[in-house]
Amino acid sequence: MKNLGRAQAIVDISRRNALKALGLSTAALAVPGLLRSPPASALPADLIMKPVPRTGEEVPAIGLGTHMTFDVKPGQPRDHLREVMKIFFDGGGRVIDTSPLYGLAEVSIGDFATALGIANQLFIADKIWVTGEWLGDDSHAQLQLRRSMERLWREQIDLMQVHSLVNARTVIRTMQDWKNDGKIRYLGASHHLPSYYHLMAPWVEKGTLDFTQVRYSMATRAAEERILPAALDTGTAVMVNMPFEKARLFQIVKGRPLPDFAGEIGCETWGQFFLKWIISHPAVTCAIPATTNPKHQADNIGALKGPLPDKAMRDRMLAHMQTIPDFDKVAKIPAYPGKSFDGVVKRGRRKPDKGKQR
Ligand SMILES: NC(=O)c1ccc[n+]([C@@H]2O[C@H](COP(=O)([O-])OP(=O)(O)OC[C@H]3O[C@@H](n4cnc5c(N)ncnc54)[C@H](OP(=O)(O)O)[C@@H]3O)[C@@H](O)[C@H]2O)c1
Repeated sequence: MKNLGRAQAIVDISRRNALKALGLSTAALAVPGLLRSPPASALPADLIMKPVPRTGEEVPAIGLGTHMTFDVKPGQPRDHLREVMKIFFDGGGRVIDTSPLYGLAEVSIGDFATALGIANQLFIADKIWVTGEWLGDDSHAQLQLRRSMERLWREQIDLMQVHSLVNARTVIRTMQDWKNDGKIRYLGASHHLPSYYHLMAPWVEKGTLDFTQVRYSMATRAAEERILPAALDTGTAVMVNMPFEKARLFQIVKGRPLPDFAGEIGCETWGQFFLKWIISHPAVTCAIPATTNPKHQADNIGALKGPLPDKAMRDRMLAHMQTIPDFDKVAKIPAYPGKSFDGVVKRGRRKPDKGKQR
């Protein structure tokens, strides 16, 4: 096996012995997912689950994002975020998306998941954003994986994604080795800008990725052109980021009632309306909305229940949104309207001449 140090080789020998004791063949080592996936019986009943096409493993169609929201500085209040994670998990959520680029988000996830005793039942989707000392150098990727595992308190990451396709050729090759070695279970690539989808699409069309992560919402439908059809053709799972357009969608429906027909698909809130539209696309595996607010989390995880819209209903939902003023200008509204975050990411973005450390 490639890239295995002596310590890792010993771990693998004991994994083989453990499998033998369980009556499983060593062929199971070729499918690292067999070694650790959450027991289905631990999930509440009647959730909307979607299969990961490569393996058939089912995951709940609503996950949790952590960009900005889970980036809290030491000493800042964080109990509300642990509550967000508890409500998410109790409601049947399992997929949590993060990145080393999200400040201290990985640390928060590792901390809360351990405190709540759910660390090994989560499906952790993380990312790698590195270049290297020279072209093709993956030493930074190796360091970043090790650091992420330490921060998340995990020995295996369920899904590792090339963040924003940075250094994709090198990182994907390295992730293939990690997958063979059981350090990760699935590999993927993520982006949130439709202007980069022409660079994402070939990876999906070639079937190289287990997962692609893209932005897809009622207001940003560019993924329908190439990414979603290619994902269906090649059996690539799709994780959807920015499902609420960073809260801008809520801004345009503020004070507006849901249309009456929302009841037909079990939607009680705008959040559930936006999410069910996304996860009902046949190519979509799960959406990963982010929140700092336990009530919003309860709302979002509610989209895991009840009927999903069919094609006719999806068209009706979209037609309704197109009657709402400013729907065609969502992208021009500033992100996270009325909200502020006070974590490492914000600190890193401070203007140089502002001086004072925050
Ligand atoms: N790979 C990439 O390039 C990339 C890029 C962007 C995002 N992502 C991933 O995708 C995740 C989601 O995207 P995002 O965080 O950018 O934006 P988002 O999920 O579209 O929007 C998050 C915002 O929506 C608000 N919100 C959430 N639920 C709500 C509800 N039920 N009612 C009212 N407001 C609600 C939140 O405010 P409150 O805190 O007040 O609820 C938060 O400000 C990220 O966290 C990250 O994991 C990946």
